[in-house]
Amino acid sequence: MAIFPRIIGHRGSPRSAPENTLASFRRAAQDGARWVEFDAALTLDGRVVIFHDDELDRTSDGSGLLADATFEQLAALDAGGWFAPEFKGEMIPTLEEALELFANFNLGFNMELKTDKGREVDLAAAALPIVLDSWPSSLPTPLISSFSRQALAAAKDIAPQWPRGFLFDRLPEDWREAAKLLGAATLNANHKHLTRDQVLEIRGLGYGVMAYTVNEPARAETLFAWGVEAVFTDIPGEMIAAFAKLT
Ligand code: G3P
Ligand code: MG
Repeated sequence: MAIFPRIIGHRGSPRSAPENTLASFRRAAQDGARWVEFDAALTLDGRVVIFHDDELDRTSDGSGLLADATFEQLAALDAGGWFAPEFKGEMIPTLEEALELFANFNLGFNMELKTDKGREVDLAAAALPIVLDSWPSSLPTPLISSFSRQALAAAKDIAPQWPRGFLFDRLPEDWREAAKLLGAATLNANHKHLTRDQVLEIRGLGYGVMAYTVNEPARAETLFAWGVEAVFTDIPGEMIAAFAKLT
């Protein structure tokens, strides 16, 4: 089974720098994170960029749907000024730019495929080959995750050697069949709905459990005691300090 650090920076270090930007990933590395999670999304013209929301409005000076914007349009946007004036000029990173930074900082990563309806397979088919082409095998093996089963199935076809994380908010009824079909390595749950019994049963079937988004060390401690393998957190520096012996 793949080994992950216990503390993973969620979208980088998003309390310290604008989420899902190179500044945020750099900051996570400086905070001591060994891994970061990020959201990969597809532009109108098929480029893979790092962005969380469907809409551009919250985390950039653009508006409307990311999926309706070309890469050229996105490249003209500012993705840092909304967070704090000193981050003005941060751009929406391409996947290639993010991978280059991860390699330079020796950061492992969880690439979450953030699909838009109808292009689930397209995103996997665009994103996975970029990683396959440029990510050295000497660096940590990435985890590929998604809420989209279609995207995970495509990831399994394209890069079967990379572990897959099956994401959900509440554990779905058919999780056993789905996890088996998708060849999941981990089940990645919203910690708010996760129970100890669920963790025990999931682990009993041989899957790892990861939990998002955990911003209180006491909660992380409880989850680790249940057998949760890793937490995604907005405060990697504080969490790492709290669990210095474990990460
Ligand atoms: O992968 C964990 C977490 O990032 C999933 O939710 O909405 O923050 O992408 P979200
Ligand atoms: Mg995410």
